[in-house]
Amino acid sequence: FFFSSRRRITRYISVTGVQTCALPICAYLSEEQGTVSIFDRGFLFADGVYEVTAVVGGRLVDYEPHMERLERSLRELRLAWPCGKDELRAMHLELVRRNGLAEGLVYMQVTRGAADRDFKFPKDARPTLIAFTQAFSILDNPNATTGIKVVTVPDLRWKRRDIKTVMLLAPSLGKQEAYERGAQEAWMVEDGFVTEGTSSNAYIVKDGKVITRGLSNSILAGCTRHSLFRLARERGIVIEERAFTPDEAYGADEAFLTSASQFVMPIAEIDGRRI
Ligand code: PDD
Repeated sequence: FFFSSRRRITRYISVTGVQTCALPICAYLSEEQGTVSIFDRGFLFADGVYEVTAVVGGRLVDYEPHMERLERSLRELRLAWPCGKDELRAMHLELVRRNGLAEGLVYMQVTRGAADRDFKFPKDARPTLIAFTQAFSILDNPNATTGIKVVTVPDLRWKRRDIKTVMLLAPSLGKQEAYERGAQEAWMVEDGFVTEGTSSNAYIVKDGKVITRGLSNSILAGCTRHSLFRLARERGIVIEERAFTPDEAYGADEAFLTSASQFVMPIAEIDGRRI
């Protein structure tokens, strides 16, 4: 159960439901020991969902909303819970403890499990659950003082972006394009309007009002977004939920993004225009 520091990020991972080797139902393993079947439907069909929960001061941030969203994602894909909810929380805490994680995140994903390759759902697969931690500074992120650069890209994703699936090829292509164009994030555009970032929700500020797209199947309901709404309400800051265009964003007074891994990140440039 123990583990080396061959890589910069040392982690224990937790694996359940692995059918191809004689592992116990829940195990904490080194990353070299953790294996998943090549027949896992997460691998073959991206048939799985995930959550990313921030850790600050060794504590999980917004854990409950993340688990509520996980429940919804599982239900929408007719995936079974891989274990009990209390067990899942205990596993998150245990991963944080074993990895000595002060700040960073816990990544966890659930797939439909391993079965003969077939598009329709297998009858008897057990869900696979894996989780690991990543250590990095969320609060003391230098980008938070300079602001980041964003570029716009077409939104190539499927139509159920409200489900947090592991099908992340389009966002990955978008993020790669952003990096190649000297930016740190891409805002995806559909029918002339910004949907969201490749791994974050998108906001602009105009005349003291925060503007962000309303929740629908077009975007992910961010847990950090949810907390931001609460904080804004407490401070009397108005948030207008509506779609905005890249042109409107170029003329904004401010822009920012939210995500569990960045909290609130200011944006200083969009498509080369200074904000
Ligand atoms: N991504 N929109 C998309 C498409 C996302 O992938 C994410 C999070 C968000 C923000 O959601 P939250 O505030 O709950 O993190 C919005 C995570 C961090 C990731 O995939 O790493």
